Order: sequence, then C-alpha cells, then structure tokens
Amino acid sequence: MSARHDSPWWRDAVIYQVYPRSFADGNGDGVGDLAGLRERLPYLRDLGVDAIWLSPWYVSPMADAGYDVADYRDIDPLFGTLVEAEELIAQAHAHRLRVIVDIVPNHCSDAHPRFRAALAAGPGSPERELFWFRPGRGEHGELPPNDWGSHFGGPAWTRAADGEWFLHMFAPEQPDWNWDHPAVREDFQVTLRFWLDRGVDGFRIDVADHLVKDPALPDAAGLGPDVIRPWRDQEGVHEIYREWRKIADSYPQRGVFVGELWDEDPVRFTRYLRPDELHTGFNFPFLSCPWDAAAFRDVVDRTLATHALVGAPATWVLSNHDVVRHATRYGRAHTAHSFDDAKHVEPSDLALGTRRARAAALLSLALPGSAYLYQGEELGLPEVEDIPDALLQDPRWLRSGFTDRGRDGCRVPLPWSGDAAPYGFSPPGATAPPWLPQPASWARLSAAAQTGDRRSTLELYRRALHLRRTEPDLGDGTLTWLPSDGDVLHFRRGDGFACLVNLGDRAVPLPPYEYVLLTSDPLEDLKVAPHSAVWLRVA
Ligand code: NOJ
Repeated sequence: MSARHDSPWWRDAVIYQVYPRSFADGNGDGVGDLAGLRERLPYLRDLGVDAIWLSPWYVSPMADAGYDVADYRDIDPLFGTLVEAEELIAQAHAHRLRVIVDIVPNHCSDAHPRFRAALAAGPGSPERELFWFRPGRGEHGELPPNDWGSHFGGPAWTRAADGEWFLHMFAPEQPDWNWDHPAVREDFQVTLRFWLDRGVDGFRIDVADHLVKDPALPDAAGLGPDVIRPWRDQEGVHEIYREWRKIADSYPQRGVFVGELWDEDPVRFTRYLRPDELHTGFNFPFLSCPWDAAAFRDVVDRTLATHALVGAPATWVLSNHDVVRHATRYGRAHTAHSFDDAKHVEPSDLALGTRRARAAALLSLALPGSAYLYQGEELGLPEVEDIPDALLQDPRWLRSGFTDRGRDGCRVPLPWSGDAAPYGFSPPGATAPPWLPQPASWARLSAAAQTGDRRSTLELYRRALHLRRTEPDLGDGTLTWLPSDGDVLHFRRGDGFACLVNLGDRAVPLPPYEYVLLTSDPLEDLKVAPHSAVWLRVA
C-alpha cells in the first residue's frame, strides 16, 4: 500500500524501465547483464523509484534484442543465470523496489523448441497447429497466404522449406503463436506461475492486443479504415487476460499487468483495463503528443476521462526502448512521436529539447496515476543518431531495406562515470567495447558527473521523485485545471499542490503560491522561464 493513499502500490508507482543489455555490464563483455544491474540497484533505490520493469532477459538468439524468446523460463547466458535472477528479485525487494518482468506472448523465437518441432513435423501435423502455418496462394503456393505486412517491413509471412508459410507480425525469427490452441494458453499460464512463484510483482505484456487473430486471416486491403485490423484487438484477447488476472490475484503479491497497447482508440484501450483484466496500460497518446499546451491538455483530459470509465489509473510515459529519446524529439521541428522518425533524421536543438524534457518530467510526475521512466532519461540522454551503419543491430534496419535506422539510437549503453567510453558501463579491464558505441560528448552526462550538481537533470529527477513521495497530493487522485494563457498548463492537485508548465517562448508570471517546491529551470525575475515547469505549494 502507498503511504499516502489507501490504495494499491501500482496506482501511483514510478516504474523505471531497465533495458538489461544497456544498463550496466558486470562481466566486461560489453553487454549489460544481471551482475551489472544488481550492483546498481542502490542507484535506483536512491533515485526514488518504486519498481523496475526489465525488458526480456530470457534465453534468446537476440534477433530482436530478446523479444524473440526461445525459453520463457530461463535466463539468457548473456545476462546471467536463473539463480542470479532469483537473487536480483530478492535484492530488489530488500531495497523496496518491486520487479516487473516482460512477457512476450504474441510470438516466440524460431529457436523455440516448439517452433523447431513444428518445422520438423511438416504440413498437417499437430505441432504446426501451435503457430499459423498456411499454404501459399498462387499456382504453386509461391505467394503469401494474405497481404499482411510485418511491423518491421516486408510481408508478415515467411515460407518454410517444405512450401508452407508461417505468420510473423514482426521479424521472420519471431513466429506468432496460435492462441486459439489450448496448449499455448496452458503453457503461458505455467510461465506466469513460474515467475510469480519466484516473487516477481508483475508483467509488462508485449504487443498485448495482438495475441488473437481473425481465424479467417482476411486480406487487409479491402477493409474500411474503421474496421479493426484482423491481427489485433480481437474480442477473444480479453478472455486470456481475465484468466491471467485470476492467476495473478491468487498470489500473495497479487501480480500486476501493464499492457503495451499502441493503436487503440481510447475507449477500446480502456476495455483492457476493466477490473478483471489488466491493471494498467502504457499511455502512448501522451508519449506521442507534440510540444503544445492545447494538445497536452487534450490528451490529459481524454486519458483521465476514459480511465475513469473503468476505474483504472492512468500511466504517464515519455520514452521507451522503441522510440526516439524525448530530449531529442522535443528539440526537433516536429515534436510528436512517429514510428517513421528513424527514417529521416531531422536536426534537433538539444538545448531546447533538454529544457522541454526536464519540464515534461515535472509534468508527468505531477499528473494523477503512475509514471514510467526509461533508463537514461534521468540523465537527460539524447538519441544517438550517428551510429555507423555497419554497427546498427535493430532488425528494422535490415527489414526496411536499410531505409529505417531503427531503434538502436535510444538503446546505447548508459554512461555511469569517467571521461571516456565505456564510461563505467563495463568494469575496468573489459574484454569488449559496449555493444553500441557511446558518444564522446557523454562524459558530462554520466551519473557521476551529474551527481551533486543541482542544475543537472539527474538531481532534478532525484528531487522530483523524493518530493513525489512526500507530497500527499501527488500520485493517485484527481486534477483541477486552473486558468492559464494559451501556452501554459496549470493545474492543482489536492489541497496544496499546483504545477505550471510553460510551453511557450516567453516567461510567464508565477501564479499565487506559498512557496516554490521545484523548478525545472531557474525562475527569471519571479517568472516561469520558457519551456520550463514549476511545482508550487499553494494555499
Ligand atoms: C514491442 C517491443 O517493445 C519491441 O521492442 C519489440 O520489437 C516488439 N514488441 C516485438 O516483440
């Protein structure tokens, strides 16, 4: 229970996303691992977050950085061992950090034993029924069974050596499970229990709306724009989550779920958050919002109104491992997120983007509900946009025919200390450089360089997170908008807290207040500076 509200922890938790391969490298092979993460848990505790969410740590050939899972119940040797994972969970709990793990139910890896068995067993076999194998179209079956495209580019079908095609909504190395098959459902229930038995506090569900497909597998081309695409948001998916919820609720820690749901309209989105389904879902409309006061206000209002329909708390998200880091995004001419961002790199005014990112942090941590931080945003890290082509690893680069540079730019290993790469990411004497190159300019952004510097982004996050814990009006609850100019967001929380965000180019007067709790940038003659935010104690 939260100390402030008589409500469950997840309704107002701040959850820090750890992308294991880029967080901290304990064994010196240039890739982050559990040993590195365990050493740095005190950093996360002191930062003031409530929980960590770990991107996949499972056995994987890493065709999509671990989102291609070959064994859901073991740890990839690149990251460590199952024993270390158990120790990590215990250690995190000792630091009062809850642990959420990623679960990837839409697809597995082509190295998963059940997919291998399906390939070996051939057409018509029961093994193939766990996946979506179909004959092709055309005279000799040489064309894919339908016109669906993979989210990474190219067709969503790949032909096996025996001539049948199998469905993969992402890379060909990520075959989609057939969730109409009871064995698939049972297997994932075993996996949920496996991790709940080991004490995890919840699951982040990868592409949570994709599991169930329209079994007719219709072409998408003829479907009207308002028709739900046949590979997602099908009615049957809700039954799966109702079953999962019962399992999670049966454990003493009452595991929680957060769904990755990108494309839903707000009302369909909240259907996943009904009281017997998922607890929360990532707020991607907020992440995607341009730097514009009216647009933000609209997203906040819509978010709160729709979540109220089902009594679920909102989440506030600015970045993750799939999108351009928001310090860079907010410095561009187009500040809204788009998955096409990596196709044409636009210049970014990083000083401006960083100011806005700092203000956005105060905004998102002041809104009602829970918040997600993506590792490195507390350091103000920008997107790395000059990774040499030959080093790019995201499958989107290859699958797009080298037109989409993909997501590696937000996945560069964190700088911890020191004046040169690997900036303490790997231990002294490491045998390999970081798996993606770190920019020379990151010395000043390392955690050590920022610690103790009151103007730094790291210290801003630390103060904000500590205040959030002690301010009774923050976290779960309601919000009241206060009068403001066009470029300003101004709202009150509870009896004594107000937040003002100036998204414009001119300083604005401080509203009436008792004292200033925190500013994202210094006040200018008692005015809130352009592209900055302030937290106020008010009467
Ligand atoms: C969403 C994950 O966040 C992303 O990184 C991954 O590539 C796809 N799902 C496929 O699993």
